[in-house]
Amino acid sequence: MRIASVLVSGLMFVMGTAVWGQTAVPAPPATVYVKAGHLFDATSDKLRDNVVLVVEGERITRVAAAGEVSIPAGAKVVDLSKAWVLPGLIDCHTHLQARADRYDPINEVRLSAFNGGFNGVVNANKTLQAGFTTVRDVGSSPFFAVDLRKAIDAGEFPGPRVVASGPGISITGGHGDMNGFAPNVQNMLYPAEKDYGIADGPDEVRKVVRAQIKYGVDVIKILATGGVLSAGDKPGAEQFTYEELKVAADEAHRAGRKIAAHAHGTEGIKDAVRAGIDSIEHGSLIDAEGIELMKQHGTYLVADIYNDDYILGKAGDFGLPKEMIEKERGVGKLQRENFAKAVAAGVKIAFGTDAGVYPHGDNAKQFHYMVKFGMTPAGAIRAATSSAADLIDRASSVGTLEAGKFADVIAVTANPLESVEVLEHVSFVMKGGKIYKDELGVAQP
Ligand code: ARG
Repeated sequence: MRIASVLVSGLMFVMGTAVWGQTAVPAPPATVYVKAGHLFDATSDKLRDNVVLVVEGERITRVAAAGEVSIPAGAKVVDLSKAWVLPGLIDCHTHLQARADRYDPINEVRLSAFNGGFNGVVNANKTLQAGFTTVRDVGSSPFFAVDLRKAIDAGEFPGPRVVASGPGISITGGHGDMNGFAPNVQNMLYPAEKDYGIADGPDEVRKVVRAQIKYGVDVIKILATGGVLSAGDKPGAEQFTYEELKVAADEAHRAGRKIAAHAHGTEGIKDAVRAGIDSIEHGSLIDAEGIELMKQHGTYLVADIYNDDYILGKAGDFGLPKEMIEKERGVGKLQRENFAKAVAAGVKIAFGTDAGVYPHGDNAKQFHYMVKFGMTPAGAIRAATSSAADLIDRASSVGTLEAGKFADVIAVTANPLESVEVLEHVSFVMKGGKIYKDELGVAQP
């Protein structure tokens, strides 16, 4: 207590001296006028032509028809008047620590943990360059994603805004445990996972959720059922019980955090929804009752329906064990069909790809499948903008292009409502008013 108050008064003193002698009013932030030929602001499914976004510092302060904005001579202009302009995209399911060309389990023994950090720096940049200005990273070593968020926010290297989870919370031997190693090897390789990621029974679940919150996570990820890319378990099998899921959801919500459940299996999906979990990740084997429950509870479906192509295509070349390729054959096609049913029924959809399973930067390849399996292009884009922002609890700052939001802006050179695949080639990326990609040469020096 005493130490704290000494620190506080010391801090006030430093702040006081810092301000002393300087201009009392900070200089107004530089204003940038972004001319948008065609704007999809994600507040509706429609495009508006010839709009100007006024950006001051890192925020948008005004969005208005070009005719209503007088741009002062010599002002900074970003001329996207021939382009289609959209909010920065949001991927609600990434693993920035992971890379999709290292599936052989021997890597876990051969490579030190530092590699995950290197991957994160490289993958964060690839993701931002692909037009994804925000991600929810749902599952990594403790507490990689929290540190990544802090480093990017501090401007240490480029990357998207990160909504960080801890390790996915798993039962012993479940989808998030490192199965297949001798016990002594596992204890050596993953000492922290035991304390922050593995829980059995409601009391342990509560403790792990609280520990993760203590170490700074924004969101809780729990592994409700088995998975594909894990040894010795089945995607369809329930892992946590309803009681355990309920404790996790209540504890997360009590701390003001959202909670996402990895769930492929039919019963696990339903128990997660009934427990009040905010999003079902994967949702592969959902049935009609599960769809109905998701609608009733307003639960989001985050279905990684591009993944199947990569897992059945390239992943085997990079050492993905046969057991896992076989598991993928059991869920991939059903997941797409069930996604279509959920879309048709009106389940809320947020965009999430499981990037890291396939190469980072290819996130937008999933739009094609979302449209193929029942969404309109506008609906798929809103899943990756306004709806995603709602799911991750960031709707007041990202997800649409409106006054007050961060100036997270991307542009493409064709109409994404005619061909959503154009989002695989984003030409311009601004995040928080700063330009990170400018293939059109529109930024003034
Ligand atoms: N991380 C997920 C798991 O291992 C990936 C599932 C990929 N397959 C799919 N069809 N979405 O379970």
